[in-house]
Amino acid sequence: MSQPSSGPRPGTAPLAEAVLAVARRDIASFHALPLSHGGSLRNSPFREVYESLFGTAQLAADVSYSGTMLDSFFRPRGPLRAAQRLAAESFGADTTLFLSAGTTTANRVALSTLVGPGSRVLTDRSCHQSVHFALGDIGARTDYVPMRRCCDECPRTFADLGQLLEMFGRAVADGQAYDAVVLSAVSYDGVRYDLPTLLSALAQMYPSVSVLIDEAWGAGHRFHPRLRELTALHTLQQLRATDASLPMRVAVTHSAHKSMSALRQGSYLHLVGDEELQEQATQALFRHHTTSPSWPVLASLDLARLQSATEGEALLDRALHLAQTLRTEIETDARLSAYRLLGPEGHLGDPRLLVSDDPTRVLVSIAELGITAADFRRILFDDYALYVARESGDAVVFHLHIGVDEATLLRLLDALRTIQRTYRSTSAALAGGTSDRFIIAYPPGIPIAVPGEQLCDRTRDQLAALRTSGCEIYTLQNAPHASAGTPQLATAAAGPATSTASTATNGTE
Ligand SMILES: Cc1ncc(COP(=O)(O)O)c(C=O)c1O
Repeated sequence: MSQPSSGPRPGTAPLAEAVLAVARRDIASFHALPLSHGGSLRNSPFREVYESLFGTAQLAADVSYSGTMLDSFFRPRGPLRAAQRLAAESFGADTTLFLSAGTTTANRVALSTLVGPGSRVLTDRSCHQSVHFALGDIGARTDYVPMRRCCDECPRTFADLGQLLEMFGRAVADGQAYDAVVLSAVSYDGVRYDLPTLLSALAQMYPSVSVLIDEAWGAGHRFHPRLRELTALHTLQQLRATDASLPMRVAVTHSAHKSMSALRQGSYLHLVGDEELQEQATQALFRHHTTSPSWPVLASLDLARLQSATEGEALLDRALHLAQTLRTEIETDARLSAYRLLGPEGHLGDPRLLVSDDPTRVLVSIAELGITAADFRRILFDDYALYVARESGDAVVFHLHIGVDEATLLRLLDALRTIQRTYRSTSAALAGGTSDRFIIAYPPGIPIAVPGEQLCDRTRDQLAALRTSGCEIYTLQNAPHASAGTPQLATAAAGPATSTASTATNGTE
C-alpha cells in the first residue's frame, strides 16, 4: 500500500496502481472471493468460459482485500484516499467519494446527507427514480416542480425552472424556506440546466440551502471548456470566487461509467460544503453502500479521472465534431432525408427556459421510415451491431460519447442510409392503394404484391407478420429498360449491409 506523505502525486492513478500491484501478486485468500485469480476454476471445465468472458486480468483484479492490505473503503487512508483527493482536485470539489454501486446509490447517499425526516424538499420531477424513492424512504416532504416541453415538435421534457425559482422565492418570503432542492441537470435526452443562473438565484434567496445536483450524464463535461461552464462544480467555484464563505451545502453525482472510461456502476459523489457535511456523507455512505465494493470499479474511477484530466478535452473535441457531422449529414444527404433532426444545436436557445442543448446528443425523428422507433432500434442492433438506448415517440437519441470514433460514425451513417433505402421504399409502396413495385418476402421468394396490384389490409398484415418472423423483404421496381415482369433482383438481394441497389427505391429488409 502506498501511503501518501505530502498528498497524492498529480498525473498518477494511485488506486489503479495499488490494485494492479495486488493483482500481480499470487496471493491466496482465506477470506472470500474464491474466483479471484481464477482460484476456484483451476481444474474446472468452466475456466475457459470465465476467461473468455472476463479475461485473466479481470479475474486477478477482482480482489477482496481491505484495511491496510489495500485500503479501507469507508475510512480510506491509503491509495483510495489519494485517488479521491485527486478526483476532488480535478473536479473542483471539497471532497469526492468513489462508489461502485452506481449513481442510484450515490443519490441515496447524497439525500441521506442533505435531508432528514420532515425536511421540505423542492424536487425536479424529471429526476431519476433513485431520488424519488430515497425522498420517500427518508420521509421528506416533497413539492414537485411542474414539467414543461420545449415545443410540440420535440419530445424532450424538463422542469419548468422559472416556476422552480418562483416556488422557492415564495416559500422564502412566507418564512417556510425549502431545506433542499433537487435538480436533474443533465438529461439523457440532451437538456442541460443553466446552473450558473439557478444556483446563484437560490444562493441569493436562501444562502444556506442544500442542493443535490444529479449530473449523472455529464461527468465528463468538466473536461471540455465548451461544456464546463454549465457544470455544477464549475458554477460553485465561480460563486465562491465572489463569496468565499458561501454556506450552501451541495452534493453532485456523476455516473462516470456513462460518459468517462469507468467500469459499469462507477460513480462519483462530490461534496461542496463544510467538514460536517463531508462527515455526514461518509456516514451515509456507510449506511447505504455495499460493504463489498468492487475494487476494479473503484480503480477504474481513478483511471477515468486521470484519462479525462490528460486527454479528456481532445476526446470531447472529437465527440463534439462527430455529433456535428451527424447533424450535417442528416440535414444535407438525400440518402438520409427520411431522418429529421428534432433538436438541432441551439434548439433550446430561449434564455427564459434556463436550459440549453447538450451538444453531444443528436435527437432524430424516424417517423418517415414507416417503422416504429422500437423496430428501428432492433434492426440497428441485430443487423448492424449498433445500439441506441433511447426512443421517445418517433425519435431516437444518439449519444456521441468519447467511445465513438470516426469509423463508428461512418458505420452508423451507412446503416442509416441502407435502412432508409429499405424501409422507406417498403412503407412508401404500402402507403398507396396500388403497389408500384414487387414486394417479395424471402423465404419463400414469392411476391406478396406485383406492380399494379391493389393493396389491401390483408397484404399489410401479412407483411407485418413476415417481418416479425424474421423474413427478409425485398422491394423492387421494374428497371426502366426492362420489360414488365423482369425485375433486377440481383442488385436488391445483396442484403442490408452490402446492397447497392441500382435505383434509390430498391432495397431489402
Ligand atoms: C439522471 C440519472 N440519474 C441517475 C441514474 C442512475 O445512475 P446509475 O446507472 O449510475 O446507477 C440515471 C440512470 O440512467 C440517470 O439517468
